[in-house]
Amino acid sequence: MSIDFNANADIIGRAEINDIDAILAIPGTDPHEIEHVVKDNADAIFTWDYSLSRPALRKLYEKAKTGQWNGATDLPWHTEVDVERTVAADQAVLGTGFDPTVYDGTAVEKWGQKEWLAFGIESRNWTLSQFLHGEQGALLCTAKIVETVPWYDAKLYASTQVVDEARHVEVFARYLEEKLGGGYHVNAHLRMLLDDIIHDSRWDMTYLGMQVMVEGLALAAFGFLHQTTSEPLLKQLLRYVMSDEARHVAFGVLSLKEVYDGMTDVEMKDRQEFAFEAAIRMRDRFMSQEVWERMGVNVNQIAPMVLADPTRVVFQSMLFSKIVPNCKKLGLLDRNDKWLRHRFEEMGVIQFEDWADTGEEYASFGLDVPVESEELSPVAGE
Ligand SMILES: [Fe+2]
Ligand SMILES: [Fe+2]
Repeated sequence: MSIDFNANADIIGRAEINDIDAILAIPGTDPHEIEHVVKDNADAIFTWDYSLSRPALRKLYEKAKTGQWNGATDLPWHTEVDVERTVAADQAVLGTGFDPTVYDGTAVEKWGQKEWLAFGIESRNWTLSQFLHGEQGALLCTAKIVETVPWYDAKLYASTQVVDEARHVEVFARYLEEKLGGGYHVNAHLRMLLDDIIHDSRWDMTYLGMQVMVEGLALAAFGFLHQTTSEPLLKQLLRYVMSDEARHVAFGVLSLKEVYDGMTDVEMKDRQEFAFEAAIRMRDRFMSQEVWERMGVNVNQIAPMVLADPTRVVFQSMLFSKIVPNCKKLGLLDRNDKWLRHRFEEMGVIQFEDWADTGEEYASFGLDVPVESEELSPVAGE
């Protein structure tokens, strides 16, 4: 019996994944909003079984306790950050991340070095702001997992992640405030995703949305920025955060592997749809519409070109380099007639399926591991 999946319109609110008008029609967040309330719909579960029945999670718990660092004292906050010089230096090595020849007929066509630099500074600010909001999402999700996961070892481990995420919120907020002079509000697509993750009553969905999808993307994005930026404070900050994030993603993969191996096709269908929805929301946010708006560019006009820009396509697909192998490890890619595999093919990210999964590679991100091994995950077999 084959399983009936929901149509795209029911999962992501539009039939075509590249429907630009629908993507841009999602209303932004009120920039004056201070609080945002989401119902979390979940039971808090006590367990009286204190046996150490999950040694892999226990090992992560022990690693988390010894891997702690202090965001206030372990980072060189005295570093003077010249944002213009930093972004210019990064652009000199990497380019702008865009192919300027594909924007004919738009305001961007006439941009010179000055405008691309201004865009780069706004983008840096926007990117770190979204990291910050995502970190707060992780803080809330992990606090929720402490309550909702039924396993003793997982509750202990998740409690350490709560402290980790508090530290991440602390350091990104401080960097934005002290070094960049303030940030952007939460992107509408990221907010929708965080809301959906918190709102779902099923404890494994919190893990899937946060530890596997959001943190999997964060780990790739942090790794990319860490490797490419020449700004020493940001570089070290990201290095420290990544050492925690790799452990968080490993926690998600190891926990869910046990659960998903025992799930029926119908139960797996819901997880596959949720992974697809999360992937689309994260990709939609990389339209970075708030940055274009601040630069005075018509977003509706430029968005189709951004979506087709070959430089952009390579960069965006890289961000899925952790998510895809982790979904494969969990059996999400190929269950139910390879439904999620086909979605990832359509999104152009399936090529990462045989990269190292984070359940295996997380230890290589440890702060005790020398710098040489900090490359983004190697392609298996290469
Ligand atoms: Fe984090
Ligand atoms: Fe995390």
